[in-house]
Amino acid sequence: MPHLQIFIVSTRPSRKGPLVAAWFEGRARQHGHFDIEIVDLAEVNLPLMDEPEHPRLQRYQHDHTKAWSARISKADAFVFVTPEYNFSAPPPLSNAIDYLVHEWAYKPVGFVSYGGVSGGLRSVQMTKLLVTSLKMVPMYEAVALPFFANSIDPATGVFSPGEVQAKAAVVMLDELARWTAALAVLRTPVP
Ligand SMILES: Cc1cc2nc3c(=O)[nH]c(=O)nc-3n(C[C@H](O)[C@H](O)[C@H](O)COP(=O)(O)O)c2cc1C
Repeated sequence: MPHLQIFIVSTRPSRKGPLVAAWFEGRARQHGHFDIEIVDLAEVNLPLMDEPEHPRLQRYQHDHTKAWSARISKADAFVFVTPEYNFSAPPPLSNAIDYLVHEWAYKPVGFVSYGGVSGGLRSVQMTKLLVTSLKMVPMYEAVALPFFANSIDPATGVFSPGEVQAKAAVVMLDELARWTAALAVLRTPVP
């Protein structure tokens, strides 16, 4: 089974990201194509980029970078569960991406975004620019969750949007599966 890493991008105390990620993880497990790992950037807790050399050289000095490199190397595909902060992508995501180069290459990325009227889409658009510079392939199909807070049960804290969003998750995961197979070929060494 291809290995999918689902990122919780927000890191602040009282963040809602884990609720949204838990909902999407449920959809991905039901979809059944991927072996799933949650990558919580708050737990990963990378400092602001502190490697002295360009990451394309892979001469990592710090244990946190070596661990991050080993973890991302295991992935065949990613889904970033992201809000937008001030019409932009949350900085912990771009910081985490900047640490590495080759480990990201030729892997597909899907997006689950949440926010107010925008559904977090401005974060997605910004991040697409970033990921393509590292040879990741962003999916056109995506899950956008406008006014997502209205779908959080105040009693249980469980996030459950409607059928439309559940269908969007299936469509995005189908596409991610297709690209995961195609891009695995590009990651095999050329003789
Ligand atoms: C610093 C900051 C900036 C925000 N900017 C936006 C924004 O530009 N657009 C939007 O729809 N919501 C914005 N919000 C509201 C977020 O959608 C909402 O707080 C959401 O819960 C953030 O995700 P998180 O809880 O996982 O951190 C902002 C929230 C914070 C904390």
